[in-house]
Amino acid sequence: MEQFKSGNDVLLADEHLIQSFADLDALKQNEARTVINRAEGAYVYDSDGKKLIDGIAGLWCVNIGHGRHELIKSITDQLNTLDYYSTFYNFTHPSAAQLAEKITSLAPDNLNHVYFANSGSAANDSAVRILHHYNQRLGKPEKRMVLSRIGAYHGSTYLSIAMTTPAYSECWTGANDLVHHLRSPHYWREGGGLSEDEFLNVLMDDLNETIYQIGPENIAAFIAEPIMGAGGVIVAPDGYHKRALAICQENDIKYISDEVVTAFGRLGHFFTSKDMFGIEPDIITTAKGLTSGYQPLSATLISDEIYEVISAPGEKFLHGFTYSGHPAASAVALANIDIMEREQLPQLVRTTGKLFENTLRELSQLDMVGEVRGSHFMMGIELVKDKANKTPFDKSVEIGSLVAKAAQSRGLIARPLGNCLVMSPTLILTPEQIKQVGAILEESISDVARQIGVA
Ligand SMILES: Cc1ncc(COP(=O)(O)O)c(C=O)c1O
Repeated sequence: MEQFKSGNDVLLADEHLIQSFADLDALKQNEARTVINRAEGAYVYDSDGKKLIDGIAGLWCVNIGHGRHELIKSITDQLNTLDYYSTFYNFTHPSAAQLAEKITSLAPDNLNHVYFANSGSAANDSAVRILHHYNQRLGKPEKRMVLSRIGAYHGSTYLSIAMTTPAYSECWTGANDLVHHLRSPHYWREGGGLSEDEFLNVLMDDLNETIYQIGPENIAAFIAEPIMGAGGVIVAPDGYHKRALAICQENDIKYISDEVVTAFGRLGHFFTSKDMFGIEPDIITTAKGLTSGYQPLSATLISDEIYEVISAPGEKFLHGFTYSGHPAASAVALANIDIMEREQLPQLVRTTGKLFENTLRELSQLDMVGEVRGSHFMMGIELVKDKANKTPFDKSVEIGSLVAKAAQSRGLIARPLGNCLVMSPTLILTPEQIKQVGAILEESISDVARQIGVA
């Protein structure tokens, strides 16, 4: 715990560690870093020993909370038995096989086959590669394009960043020729004067028109998060996913549901596609809450129909990662799911997550809050300069960061995303802790509003 405390060690981090999504120049100029040394339950501790509510569960990950000994033991037990073997050629091992069986038992009925990787990005890449292989085998090699959406986040590999909203890849060239971005489904910001139903019709017209323009014979997939996460927690109008799936089915386009964030309890279900949004996609990708972040692991679940094609006699499945289905990651995922089932965590979230949602919704009374949106333990707070006109702050104000810093000084980690604050805590928050999160956010937003003169 002490090892990160000295000035020298922080300096070493300056020189050698490249941090993700960071302003590297600001870090070089000694922008203060938060060094997280220790974690327990719903809290983390920084290098000054300050106790902070982990309002973002690491990065939408630590669903069952930090420091669960049962999970740590499942990793060491597994390593003592079988430290490493991959699931390649005809080799397999018990924990990966058992986990595949367990995950498919929780997923919609049509998804009975699982491909493991190590990150959400790789799960989404795998989904598209599997579909390209599938179409190739069906004699449709030109059926390759992916329809994604403005506001989406699907990862940071070249393919998954291309599927992510263009704002994340400004100045970078990606696999953009493979991806088309549909309109953002954010009603509050994009709805104009339309009713929500009219706006939904506009979105579906956009999908139909795009398919017509590109040609269904060239489109492999539509990819969508049930609720957009890193795009600022955007909830599409009611019925969006059902109607989009129907259009995809009419046009022989596969539907990939990116449940990297939404699965494993965050919204009160193991998987939300069917249980919350009433759809059975052709592919679901997931990660994060699958192991509660204790080990890196992701899963791409595919339908029986796709599996039958890619496993028919003929070309081999030439796709794989060294650590696919790593024994320790598979073992901890099994232990994580076991705890979630035993402690009925998804069921609990339907109560405590709803309380969290309602507590944060009360912040919409504040002048600087334009919209509070999301569901259960996946919430976004959009901060505005002028509430009546929904006028956003200038980027240079970095309003999200200002409020996040104010919250951190009061004992809460919140995630700034442009003009938005994203909250995705561990799923074990008590009503008392939820009240505390609400109070800290209210104070922090009000305080910053006073400081910058938005009253
Ligand atoms: C919805 C979604 N998909 C994919 C990813 C990418 O996952 P990873 O960072 O593990 O590659 C993320 C990461 O936040 C995500 O939120």
